[in-house]
Amino acid sequence: MSALLTVAGLTKSFGGVRALDDCGFEVAEGAVSALIGPNGSGKTTAFNVITGYQAADSGSLSFRGRVVRRPDPCRLQRLGLARTFQQPRVFPGLSVLENVVLGRPQPWRALLRRRVPGADRRRAEELLEEFGLAAHAERPAARLSYGQRRLLEFASVLMADPALILLDEPTAGVNPVMVETMERHIRRRYDEGVTFLIVEHEMRFVMRLCDPVIVLDHGRPIACAAPTAVQNDPRVLDAYLGE
Ligand SMILES: Nc1ncnc2c1ncn2[C@@H]1O[C@H](COP(=O)(O)OP(=O)(O)OP(=O)(O)O)[C@@H](O)[C@H]1O
Ligand SMILES: [Mg+2]
Repeated sequence: MSALLTVAGLTKSFGGVRALDDCGFEVAEGAVSALIGPNGSGKTTAFNVITGYQAADSGSLSFRGRVVRRPDPCRLQRLGLARTFQQPRVFPGLSVLENVVLGRPQPWRALLRRRVPGADRRRAEELLEEFGLAAHAERPAARLSYGQRRLLEFASVLMADPALILLDEPTAGVNPVMVETMERHIRRRYDEGVTFLIVEHEMRFVMRLCDPVIVLDHGRPIACAAPTAVQNDPRVLDAYLGE
């Protein structure tokens, strides 16, 4: 499988804390890869730097065979790279439907008038139906439960038809039924050819769904292998036990 995303030598420090330290890995096209590691090992920072929410101190990134010199969230979204956040980000005052529509960049005029183009509305309605949120379409997103907000965020990023989706802890704080729902949606998009990189602490979820598993420790990858191999890797156990 070829690499859809390649990062090399990424470094990012916050004051004296080196969140990413010469971090490099590849995300194979057509796979569901996991990015795991202990708390504070740099997973979210890796997502932030890759998607242009934070600038790296050094390092390089290529996506779909193109070098991305200055990652910018909107430009990357147009190129097919989407992400969700560790704390789901929705626009609480906008309707659930409007939130989904905004997953695809809209012209300013449409935004100011809060007019949703017909084709986008239909697409958003389909996604809400698929995600079991159709009954909430016209309600403010603030009224959704935490788990529903995670689903809403996922549905929103699908509006832009991404080739690669980075999910930051998609099951954190959601109930077991919602975990299954999330898994079903990931599998469905995977079957349609979407590539995933998933940060996740819930190991059973990772073991069922992801291959390969990339393990970060102190901002550096220490393993990249099939889930069972990673589970039995002494370096990984040491990292989690804090040795
Ligand atoms: N904006 C920031 N300012 C200062 N330090 C930060 C900032 N963001 C992250 N850090 C630090 O960088 C390190 C990596 O943090 P990061 O959030 O990337 O870890 P993580 O692997 O996502 O952890 P978790 O599993 O808890 O979400 C941590 O030591 C964290 O405290
Ligand atoms: Mg994190």
